[in-house]
Amino acid sequence: MKPVKVGLLGLGTVGCGTINVLTRNGDEIARRAGRGIQVVAASARDLKRPRNCDLSAVRLCTDPFEVVNDPDVEIVVELIGGTKPARELVLAAIGQGKHVVTANKALIALHGNEIFTAAQEKGVTVAFEAAVAGGIPIIKAIREGLSGNRILWLAGIINGTGNFILTEMRDKGREFADVLAEAQRLGYAEADPTFDVEGIDAAHKLTILASIAFGIPLQFDKVYTEGITRITREDVGYAAELGYRIKHLGVARRTEQGIELRVHPTLIPQRRLIANVDGVMNAVLVKGDAVGPTLYYGAGAGADPTASAVVADLVDVVRALTSDPENRVPHLAFQADALSDIPVLPMDEVQTAFYLRLRVQDKPGVLADITRILGDQHISLEAVLQRETDEDAAEASIILLTHKVREGNMSKAISAIQQLETVIAPVIRIRLESLK
Ligand code: NDP
Ligand code: HSE
Repeated sequence: MKPVKVGLLGLGTVGCGTINVLTRNGDEIARRAGRGIQVVAASARDLKRPRNCDLSAVRLCTDPFEVVNDPDVEIVVELIGGTKPARELVLAAIGQGKHVVTANKALIALHGNEIFTAAQEKGVTVAFEAAVAGGIPIIKAIREGLSGNRILWLAGIINGTGNFILTEMRDKGREFADVLAEAQRLGYAEADPTFDVEGIDAAHKLTILASIAFGIPLQFDKVYTEGITRITREDVGYAAELGYRIKHLGVARRTEQGIELRVHPTLIPQRRLIANVDGVMNAVLVKGDAVGPTLYYGAGAGADPTASAVVADLVDVVRALTSDPENRVPHLAFQADALSDIPVLPMDEVQTAFYLRLRVQDKPGVLADITRILGDQHISLEAVLQRETDEDAAEASIILLTHKVREGNMSKAISAIQQLETVIAPVIRIRLESLK
């Protein structure tokens, strides 16, 4: 049987990784797919730029629409990133009845509802395994492996760049900017790295995970998002003293009132496996009612790991080429006409425990004032740590761990605490998850 012909949009980290994996493992991939998979055309902006892959058998051009419109191309692989021109390219491919594989989480999180509707009308597949957690087959695991479960919650380290930065800062004392520059050199970071460090990339991925876990439409605008830029060595140290690690987590949880969707730095007990996921590695914990907790671990970014997911999608698409579109696995795990309108909870309604750090004047009555305000908001304490930070100036740091409380109550308590004359710096708040 003739090989399936693929057109590649983008020849950067993931584009070249995909060509390399298809070349290196071509025979095994063909034995799995039932046919060979051959990249026949590809586009990049600058054709003079040296590439880390062999392009001798590939027709090259600078206009990605040329690849999409190439009558030879049966499957389009979008590896440009961003939403423009990626959205137009993917919709054009679908319009021509071509299947699409993409690693683009921004595109799926922001335009997935439109793209999947168009794909369904045309009877084509849009596969996006590489869009979440790099090489970890987490989409397939939730969409297919856990399809007998009611998913209760999931929590994941889903940005490799951010985890790499936090790990290098903690273990080697390196500076934030220096580690970020290395992540960019290694090809981990987004074209705009603020997406990584401000939590936007993780929010894109959480949007996708929540949709396939709970059968809800993609709702990126409802995700509460905080990045890693305000995490300090001081907080990492105090968290360790209390038996916790600080990780940047995406959390999606089903509650009676609605779905929690949030991305933020989080204290996790040191003994949890996920607290020990370091460097560019990602991990996603998924709790189903039947299976209980399950954990998926692997490289969250980088050329070959991401290509592993892109190629797996290609194999799936090739296997399904002759299947009836009605009988394919639905894009978002649930049948398109069976999505639920269960609401996403406003952040003020979300309940978590908290780590608070307060810089205060070291004098009698300060702690009593603080605990009174917390009590007024029904916040009870689990642990208190006091450290004198400046003996001459009589200043101290108070670190508090609270039990679970509504975010809205905590915000009220913090603004009241901030009004105290004895509190001399902005209160630091980091959420805490036991992940039991
Ligand atoms: P790169 O920046 O390395 O590559 C992007 C490619 O697209 C380049 O070849 C570039 O051309 C081309 N390109 C960029 N802008 C345009 C444009 N406006 N029109 C046409 N071509 C364009 O990105 P990555 O390979 O890192 O990422 C690709 C996708 O994969 C993104 O969606 C990213 O989020 C996702 N992803 C990346 C991972 C990673 O580890 N890097 C992991 C998982 C997902 P030129 O080379 O000439 O500049
Ligand atoms: N920039 C992303 C990350 C790439 O670091 O996780 C993988 O999606």
